[in-house]
Amino acid sequence: MKLLELLSWGDNNLVIRLGVAGALSGVGSAALLGIVNTAAEEIADNGIDEVNWALAATFIVLAVVYFLAEVFLISTIARQIENGIDRVRKKLLSQIAVADFAQIEIFGQSRLFDSITQSTQNISQNSHMIGMAFRSLLLLVAVMAYVFWLSMLAFFIIVVVVGVGILIYLRMGKTLSMWFGKLHQVETILFDRVSDLFAGIKEVRMWSKRSDAFKVAFDNASDNKAEIGKKAQTMISRQMIMGISAFYILLAIIVFIVPVYSDSFDADVAKISTAVLFMIGPISIIVQSMSVLGMAERSAVRMMQLSKDLEDIREPIAEDGMPLSDPFDHVSFENVVFTYPNRDPRHGFELGPIDLSVKRGELLFITGGNGAGKSTLIKILTGLYRPVSGKVSINNTQLGPQSMSAYRNLIATVFSDSHLFEELFGTTDIAVEDAQYWIERFELAHVTGIRDGRFITIALSAGQRKRLALITAILEDRPIIVLDEWAADQDPYFRKKFYREILPELKQRGTTIIAVTHDDHYFDVADRRLHLDTGKLSELDLTDPRGRI
Ligand SMILES: Nc1ncnc2c1ncn2[C@@H]1O[C@H](COP(=O)(O)OP(=O)(O)OP(=O)(O)O)[C@@H](O)[C@H]1O
Ligand SMILES: [Mg+2]
Repeated sequence: MKLLELLSWGDNNLVIRLGVAGALSGVGSAALLGIVNTAAEEIADNGIDEVNWALAATFIVLAVVYFLAEVFLISTIARQIENGIDRVRKKLLSQIAVADFAQIEIFGQSRLFDSITQSTQNISQNSHMIGMAFRSLLLLVAVMAYVFWLSMLAFFIIVVVVGVGILIYLRMGKTLSMWFGKLHQVETILFDRVSDLFAGIKEVRMWSKRSDAFKVAFDNASDNKAEIGKKAQTMISRQMIMGISAFYILLAIIVFIVPVYSDSFDADVAKISTAVLFMIGPISIIVQSMSVLGMAERSAVRMMQLSKDLEDIREPIAEDGMPLSDPFDHVSFENVVFTYPNRDPRHGFELGPIDLSVKRGELLFITGGNGAGKSTLIKILTGLYRPVSGKVSINNTQLGPQSMSAYRNLIATVFSDSHLFEELFGTTDIAVEDAQYWIERFELAHVTGIRDGRFITIALSAGQRKRLALITAILEDRPIIVLDEWAADQDPYFRKKFYREILPELKQRGTTIIAVTHDDHYFDVADRRLHLDTGKLSELDLTDPRGRI
């Protein structure tokens, strides 16, 4: 079972521990049943003249053992489930963090979101059910052993009836599983619609035609989910009723039919009927929890599949990465070629082959039209994308799994779709004066600041947030800064300040700057300018008219 496999990741003793507690609880309850039956038999034979203290005492001791084992089992299972989910969630998160960037971009957000939140919730919310089902299963095994000891005939009748019941149940289960598969699909569509609405709420508000059409699409998704949900629930109820009815049929066979055909059976019919009645509780729990378990199992399968897929696209990075030998001196590209993995070849885009060298302290601009490959190039330069062929070297050492992490650590970035973290993760030990200096330099002191390792607020205008992102990059104090169209949402005044004052100041401090830009008024600020044209790179004179409008 994938669920058990998933929960015991990194804990090989889990199954053994649960097995021992389960066996204690199961045997304990079967022994209780045995004692009740023995006492009843005695009373039937001899009448009640005095209390059988020995049996009563054994009953109490067994009841205590059973109670303790039960509490241990249920709470251990619940705890293990939470621990297991915690481990899985953390594992998935760390796998996402080390997955090949170009490949992970293709994964749908809903798939990652589902596995880390929804699927883990499916399992954890029902952890008590899973525990109860496990314990009921063990109890059934123990009671069946008791029945076997009482009468082999009764045992086989029960096995046959239960066997047929299970077969019907499994057949129904298959159909149910199919419905649950469908249910998950429509849930994913609904999730995508909700995130679409959230991301596009402005656009939806702004045009009633779009709003109406979107509402129709959303209602359809919601109706589909409700429809398939209802079908699945009906199947569950049918399955449950069928499971419990099978037991009443079993009871009827044992009480009414078997004694007629078997002499030896008569004596034990009362005991066996009690045992069968004793099984109804656990059976209904198992039947009820089947659908929950099925759901948890499917969640486990999805999470494990995701984990496997993430493992397949794991970036080949050595755990014990080497530090780079010298201080950064230069980065060079030799015949570097890149293509996107999911790209339809009919509309292919190929970057390269590129030869390039960037020296320490240089201020380099990358220009080119929309779709020319600038952002793609800087993702290779920053080590996010790995070239399909060719070599990227730093200080004449070719980058490889050993050095990738150390290489990325050299580069601070502000991508065009950069994310601004409110908390300054990784830069908590910055000098306060430094932070203050840059916040004033970027003219943000009146709207925000840094306190206790986080920005006081990041609820700012788009241009202001971009400034904060650059401040973060500067405070990270790394030798290279890479910027993708940083100034695109700055006002003319600040754009000028950025190109004429801030970039030269950073260069003065020794930072190497690689900036993608469309701002042709300021091309002269750069030391060198590289120009991309449909994936082909050339070095241009700073005054070259190409790239200007
Ligand atoms: N995630 C992706 N998957 C597949 N193809 C992509 C992806 N991102 C970009 N491309 C393709 O790669 C080409 C270069 O895109 P890139 O983003 O590098 O252009 P750019 O020069 O940065 O353009 P812009 O000035 O518009 O930012 C485009 O033709 C685009 O269709
Ligand atoms: Mg771009």
